[in-house]
This record gives sequence, structure tokens and C-alpha cells, in this order.
Amino acid sequence: MTKTWKRPLWRRVVRWAIRGIAIVIALPIVALVIGYLRSDNECSRPKQAPAHPMRAIVYCDYGTADNLRLEPVEKPTPTDDQMLVKVKSAAVNPLDWHFIRGTPYVMRLSAGLKKPKDIRLGVDFSGTVEAVGKNVTDFKPGDDIFGGRNGAFAEYVVVRPDRAITPKPANVSFEQAAGVPIAGITALQAIRDRAKLQPGQKVLINGASGGVGTFAVQIAKAYGADVTGVCSGRNVEMVRGLGADRVIDYTKEDFTKGDARYDAIIDNVGNRGLLECKRVLAPNGRYVLIGGGGPDRGNWIGALAGPMKAFMLGAFVKQEMGFFVAQLNKADLKVLADMMEAGQVTPVIDRTYPLAEVPEAIKYLEEGHARGKVVITME
Ligand SMILES: NC(=O)c1ccc[n+]([C@@H]2O[C@H](COP(=O)([O-])OP(=O)(O)OC[C@H]3O[C@@H](n4cnc5c(N)ncnc54)[C@H](OP(=O)(O)O)[C@@H]3O)[C@@H](O)[C@H]2O)c1
Repeated sequence: MTKTWKRPLWRRVVRWAIRGIAIVIALPIVALVIGYLRSDNECSRPKQAPAHPMRAIVYCDYGTADNLRLEPVEKPTPTDDQMLVKVKSAAVNPLDWHFIRGTPYVMRLSAGLKKPKDIRLGVDFSGTVEAVGKNVTDFKPGDDIFGGRNGAFAEYVVVRPDRAITPKPANVSFEQAAGVPIAGITALQAIRDRAKLQPGQKVLINGASGGVGTFAVQIAKAYGADVTGVCSGRNVEMVRGLGADRVIDYTKEDFTKGDARYDAIIDNVGNRGLLECKRVLAPNGRYVLIGGGGPDRGNWIGALAGPMKAFMLGAFVKQEMGFFVAQLNKADLKVLADMMEAGQVTPVIDRTYPLAEVPEAIKYLEEGHARGKVVITME
């Protein structure tokens, strides 16, 4: 009689555990490789001349702004629930060069692993409603609106009236209104929802002269805060003109070495150490990291390092320290429209470029020294 030898139970459990872990690790890798190999977009399909052409900026591959082309594409047709908007102006944002480059790479999980799924670019726009679907009752042809919609670097977009759009106040131009959505909403949500700024509190805005910063200074003043802006010497007078009570020229003074203590720091640049920022934060202060770093910051986790550090440090200190991603929404666009109508906020336009020169506009923004918003005009 032969005796069957059995491995001890613990060894079998360990073997199966190792196999399980290997499968759990391998499956996403296989899925990523398959997804990468299958990643495609409409550029590789046979092209037909559009029946009703309009001009739009398109890009077929990730890379630099040199990949962008102005091409005739099919003019969109609104469904019953949408409206057709003739775009008058659009605005560029750092978000656009993240999409152009497909970085940080983690964003490619939704944007397309090897190639951009959506070959159209741009979000911020302003324009005039040209036609409405039969279910649209809130807007009519001729209404001037502004808001956010993918593919805004184009002569026309279609939008649903319940999405992130709102009527344009008469006292701001199309160029100014186009500059509002992403930068204005980011500044508003940072100050109101994250910093929870109260009248009389002290706030420091690092990067006060850029797209987000110029809105943040004005919104913080409208909330009754005591505002300190940080920018380079050439922008000091502009930031003071927006309402800042004090302006620090970062080429001469390091705000983290000063004696002042702030109830909130809105950080659009992320160029100082978190512990240095914490040093100038009041005991119950809030540090809100919005962004920072240009296109060369690193493609893997470079741009995510600051948010991760802020998240981790926030768990160990009394002050609130964290990163947030703004949410484009209709209600906050209306808040900003009302603030513009009341004269509390006036968008600052740095430069305007025609639609054909979106690549130049993006390259200028990538330099990291825009003074307010960089805007695209259609006419
Ligand atoms: N979390 C979110 O939801 C969200 C939303 C929007 C934007 N963002 C991010 O926020 C950041 C700012 O966006 P933005 O649209 O304002 O960019 P932007 O318009 O390009 O802002 C550039 C500004 O940064 C200033 N700056 C550069 N170096 C500085 C320094 N060492 N100290 C102080 N200021 C400095 C420049 O001022 P000088 O010319 O005077 O140097 C310039 O005015 C970007 O990283 C963007 O990706 C995040």
C-alpha cells in the first residue's frame, strides 16, 4: 500500500495566496497593455469632407502644442435638449496643456492611454445662442452666455441649458466672460468652500497675478478679507489695483520667512515647502493647494507630489492642509456673473490670440507668467 503525501495546510494557503496576489497584480497590467494597444481616436478613420463645416482646433496625438491643428470639422447639431452656441471667445487654461501632453500619466486612464480619445480641446467659452432644441425653454436665440464645454476651441459648441453655463452680464465683454469659468470657479470654491474665509480674516494668495490669482484677490476682497498677494515685481501694481492690501514681490521677499500669520493661504504655485507654509499659518489656519509647476514638472507623479504631501501632512497637524479639484457648475457661474454685474469682480485679460493661434496661446501660458487670462477670439 502506497502512502499519499500531502503538503501541510499552511503551505497550500501560502501558495494560493501568492497566486491570488499575482493575479490581482497581473490583471490590471494586462488590461492597461490591451487598453494601450487599442487606444485610438477618429484621426485614424477615413476622413470625409464635413457637410456643414466649421473650424476647430484638433489634436490626434499627445505631445506639445505644435500637434494642434485648425481644421474644418462637422458643425454640431443640437438635440431637442441642447442649444447651438456661436462661440465668440474662449480661454486657455493649464488644464489644456495637461490634455495636450496627457500628463500626469494617470489622467490617461480616462483621457485615452496612447492617444486622446477626444481630439477636440478647450473648455472655457462665451458666445451667443444661435438655435435651441424644442425642449429648451430657459434660453432663446440671441442670448449671450458663458460657461464650460469640452471642445470650446471651435466656432460652435452644443450645450444643455442645465449644464455649466449662465447668461453673460452686459457689463463684461465676451473676452472677459470667456476667461471666467475654470479660473473664476477655482478661486471662488477655494476661498468660500475650502478656506471658508470670513470677513476680516487674513489670506495670502501665492501666484496672485495669474488666471486663478487675479480672481482670488478680487473674490477674497469681496468676502471682506485682508488680502496679501504674492507675485513678481512687474505685477505688483496690477495686484494692488485688484484690491490687495499688501503685495509681496517674490523676487525680493520670501513670504514664508515673514512675521505675519494668515488664516488662509491659497497656493496657485506650490513652490514653497509645506512646512514653510505651515510656519506662517495661524493655529487654526487653512492651506489650500490649487496647483503649480509647469509642463516640465514630471509626467508620472511630479504634479501629484504636492497634493499627496499636503494630504499626508494634513493628517498630522492642527491646521487644515489639502489639495482640491474645482468643480465647474452652473450655480457658481451664476455667483460669479452676479459678482461681475455688481462690479466686485472684473476679469483681467492679458493677451488675446485668434483661433488659428491657439498653439501660440498655449505656449505662452506654459511659460508660467500670464498676467490674468489668455483669451482666444473667433473673429
Ligand atoms: N485644483 C484645481 O482645480 C485647479 C484649477 C485651475 C488651475 N489649477 C492649477 O493652478 C495653477 C495656477 O493656474 P493659473 O490658471 O492661475 O495659471 P497661470 O495663469 O499660468 O498663472 C501663472 C502665475 O503664476 C505666477 N508665478 C509664477 N512663479 C511664481 C512664484 N515663484 N511665486 C508667485 N507667483 C508665481 C506668475 O506670476 P509672475 O509672472 O508675477 O511670476 C503668473 O501670474 C496651475 O498649476 C493650474 O494647473 C488647479
